[in-house]
Amino acid sequence: MDKICVIGAGNMGGAMVRGWAKKGGCELTVTARTEQTLGRIRQEFPEVRTVLDNVSAIKDADVIVLAVKPWLIESVITEIRGAIDFDRQVILSVAANIFTDTLRGYLGCPSANVLYVMPNIGAEFNESMTFLAPAEGVGEDVTASVEALLQKLGKVRICKEKEVAAGNMLSGCGIAYVMRFIHAMMEGGVEMGLYPQDAKMIAMQAMSGAVAVLEGTGMHPAAAIDKVTTPGGLTIRGLNELDHAGFNSAVIRCLKAGLEK
Ligand SMILES: NC(=O)c1ccc[n+]([C@@H]2O[C@H](COP(=O)([O-])OP(=O)(O)OC[C@H]3O[C@@H](n4cnc5c(N)ncnc54)[C@H](OP(=O)(O)O)[C@@H]3O)[C@@H](O)[C@H]2O)c1
Repeated sequence: MDKICVIGAGNMGGAMVRGWAKKGGCELTVTARTEQTLGRIRQEFPEVRTVLDNVSAIKDADVIVLAVKPWLIESVITEIRGAIDFDRQVILSVAANIFTDTLRGYLGCPSANVLYVMPNIGAEFNESMTFLAPAEGVGEDVTASVEALLQKLGKVRICKEKEVAAGNMLSGCGIAYVMRFIHAMMEGGVEMGLYPQDAKMIAMQAMSGAVAVLEGTGMHPAAAIDKVTTPGGLTIRGLNELDHAGFNSAVIRCLKAGLEK
């Protein structure tokens, strides 16, 4: 499964193409609506085949990745479905909330090898957190091959479709929330006299350090926080200010907001 065709080269499709291109070992084809988007990919990765016509693009692919906006999925599938070899080709869709039953309906093939995939833009730097939910009846061998392909883009968790939403709030959307936190730290740093670029670097390194400690020790964050919290010290003052401002509650509400209709 090394021939991948990505339909849609925007924020998400483009990040996946770039991540796979950096890792190597795949034959990549990518499509977009405009030549301008494809030109940008070609400039960075001349080895990636760029095509404006979706039907001819999917011809030799083992894996077809649908990465257009959710409201365009039906029309793109209608365009390509006659050219899909359902015995051989596997279809991945990253379109949020378009589930495999619907995709199989659009494809007109109830047994199609379809998998619902939710990566994040960290894929471009091979640091995605990707959820992989195979449709009912998709073989374990197919799921394992797709998992291996997605592992080139970062970490992968296989789950049921209904479990993707919560995970996506922490990862797909979560990446934006983490960036907002970095931005807030920058603003604080600037108020204390740091230059924005310095504050950004320091905040990001603090973030990397926190991740390294949690990964390296396996500790619960509360226990790790205790290690940097001297009684009567500076850290606890800041932590308590966060609590007074309702930080934990704000984060929890932020994550749940995306699940509310
Ligand atoms: N952005 C994220 O963080 C994220 C995370 C997880 C999942 N997703 C999912 O990823 C999908 C794409 O989102 P996005 O943010 O990447 O959108 P986007 O940046 O607008 O990208 C959409 C891409 O689709 C291309 N396109 C439009 N119509 C097409 C057609 N008929 N044939 C081929 N390509 C076509 C566009 O081409 P042009 O560039 O030429 O206009 C563009 O490159 C969505 O379904 C979304 O739910 C996004």
